[in-house]
Order: sequence, then C-alpha cells, then structure tokens
Amino acid sequence: VVLVDMAVARKQGSWLRALLATAAGRPSLPVLTLPGGEQVKSLTWLERAYDWLASRQLPREGLVVAVGGGALLDLAGFAAATWHRGIRWSSVPTTLLAMVDASLGGKTAINTADLKNPVGAFHPADSSYADPAVLSSLPRLHWRAGLAEMIKAAVVGSRPLFRDLRRHQLTLSQRLGHGRSTSKVDGILAALPWPEWIVQAARVKVRIVTTDFRETGPRQALNLGHTLGHALEAHLGCSHGEAVAVGMATAVRVAVTRGLCPPDEGWQIIELLKAVGLPVTADPPPLSVLTRLLKGDKKHTARQPAWVLPERIGKVHLDQRVEPAEAATACRG
Ligand SMILES: NC(=O)c1ccc[n+]([C@@H]2O[C@H](COP(=O)([O-])OP(=O)(O)OC[C@H]3O[C@@H](n4cnc5c(N)ncnc54)[C@H](O)[C@@H]3O)[C@@H](O)[C@H]2O)c1
Repeated sequence: VVLVDMAVARKQGSWLRALLATAAGRPSLPVLTLPGGEQVKSLTWLERAYDWLASRQLPREGLVVAVGGGALLDLAGFAAATWHRGIRWSSVPTTLLAMVDASLGGKTAINTADLKNPVGAFHPADSSYADPAVLSSLPRLHWRAGLAEMIKAAVVGSRPLFRDLRRHQLTLSQRLGHGRSTSKVDGILAALPWPEWIVQAARVKVRIVTTDFRETGPRQALNLGHTLGHALEAHLGCSHGEAVAVGMATAVRVAVTRGLCPPDEGWQIIELLKAVGLPVTADPPPLSVLTRLLKGDKKHTARQPAWVLPERIGKVHLDQRVEPAEAATACRG
C-alpha cells in the first residue's frame, strides 16, 4: 500500500502516477493521501492510517511505500514499525531535506504531549528511492532547509561535497539567495548537479548511521547546528532550516574563537549558508531563557546538552561543552 503526501498528489500528479505504475507493474495499488507537514505527525493521523491499513487488511508480509516530505515519512515509518509489530516499508522522499536526511537512518516518530518526536521507533526503510525531478514544485523555503542539511553533511563528513557546493556558490546564491520563500524556484533543477549532491550527502549520513545506529556516539555528529537550532526554532518562530543555519554558524564561531577550527574554513561555511539565503546570526533570548531552551526541558532538571563543533571541513569534535553565555555571544555574530 502507498501513503502519499497531499502536496505531492496535488502538485506532482503525473510524476506520482508514473511512479505508482512503475513500482507496481500495475496501476492500481491502494493509495491513502495524507496532509503533508508537521501536522501529520499526530496520534489522530496515525489512527487514521491504522484504520485504513485495517480496511485494506494489510498482512504481516505487506509493504508500506511512503511518498512525501520528512514529516509524512516519519509518520508512515512509525505506522510500519508498529503495524503487526513491524512490517517492511520503503521511502520515496519528495523534499530535498527528506532525500538527504529524513528518509535515511531508521528513525521514525510522531509528536505528542506538546513535544517533538517523543514517540517513535528505530525502523529503517528497506529501500529509499529519490528522484530529483519531483523537487520542481518545492518552495524556496524548503530548498533552503534541504541545503542547510546538505551543507551540514558536507561539514560533518565530505570535503569534496563542500568544495563542489562552493564551486557553484554563485548559482546557488542567484537562485536561492533572494526571492519569496513560498514561491517555486524556476530552473534550479537544471542549473545544478542535484543527483550527485544528493548521493554524496546521503552517503555521509548512511556512513555515520551505519557505525552508530542507536546514537550512542558518532551519530551525534549529525546534530551539528541542532543544539542551538532547536532552542532558537521555538523562541524565534523561524523555520527549522533557518534555526539550524544560525546554530551551525554559531558552532563555527565558537570553534574558531577557541582555535579548534581554522578561521578561513569557518568563514567559508558561513558564506555558503548566507549564499543560499539562510540566516547566520540571530538575537538570542535572555540568558535564563536560553539556558532553559538549550536543555529542551520545561522542568529545569536536564543537563546542558553536548555540542558538536567543526574541526575543519569534513571533520567535527563531539561532546563539546558550550556555556549559554558563550553561545549567545557567538549567535549574535
Ligand atoms: N527521521 C529522521 O531521521 C528525520 C531527520 C530529519 C528530519 N526529520 C523530520 O522531517 C520533518 C521535516 O521534513 P521536510 O523538511 O521534508 O518537511 P515536510 O515533510 O514538513 O514537508 C514540507 C512541505 O512540503 C510539502 N511537500 C513535500 N514534497 C513536496 C514537493 N515535491 N513539492 C512541493 N511541496 C512538497 C509537504 O506537504 C509540506 O507541506 C520534520 O518532522 C522532522 O522531524 C526526520
């Protein structure tokens, strides 16, 4: 059975029909369309999905194919992880972020109790199929969000990818540096080598996740920019990609100030983020609020989280301690 993101059904109808016909060898796979975006990661939509799987009598040996952005994949993957105590699933990511990040690594989850991703399972997809053609309808905001994760992947584990992104920095800046965040980005697919970049960024994630599936060590590298990013996202009300970009730039400044990362490499990371239209500075909240937000804990009991800091492009330091005051200064730029 197939679970599809409503935006894809609406904006990429012929692409979807072609995909379903090819995947099935017949055009009549059962399809459930669900809303895309964060709202779908809820108990309400999970229950609707279960009801539908029951109505289709999906057996234990059945397969769920999830077609959509990261949110839809998180929900569908969790439904697959729990249906009959776990059945197989495949992902077809349709946003850049989902192609290089959310579709890989086996984490599935929904949101509940006012928290993000507290209920989930490690349940990797059997396979993941990414076709950049589907990105033609992606709004600029989501290109930038995907690029934030792609730049992160390069900084964490691929100098060649970073070099290539830098080589195309002018084109990236022309297409993404300005313009309405909700509009499509004309010509961007043909202008840049997306298939190569997606494969290279995906490889970084797969390599790291393979060494540390349950995130006890090296997988933390993928949190570069996310420690402060998560805190700022809630406070500033900005998008996840924007918050991660500010978080990454902040981590760069802390690393450069401490002499952990060469200044010219740090500068290149920040310039690339800026080129794609992502913010690299922000006004942090007052220190007491920032301290609480960084802990991500409403009861004030958690410890300060560990930070990931760049050592050079392609390599990071794990488990670094950064005081909230130091983070606030670096966040301002
Ligand atoms: N499981 C993981 O390892 C992992 C990793 C990173 C992020 N995530 C999760 O992924 C989610 C974010 O994913 P996202 O950035 O893909 O956002 P998203 O899934 O919210 O999608 C963004 C918007 O784009 C729409 N959309 C999807 N494909 C489209 C297309 N081809 N053209 C036009 N619009 C399209 C969606 O309907 C949605 O409105 C978050 O919930 C996050 O927690 C999970």
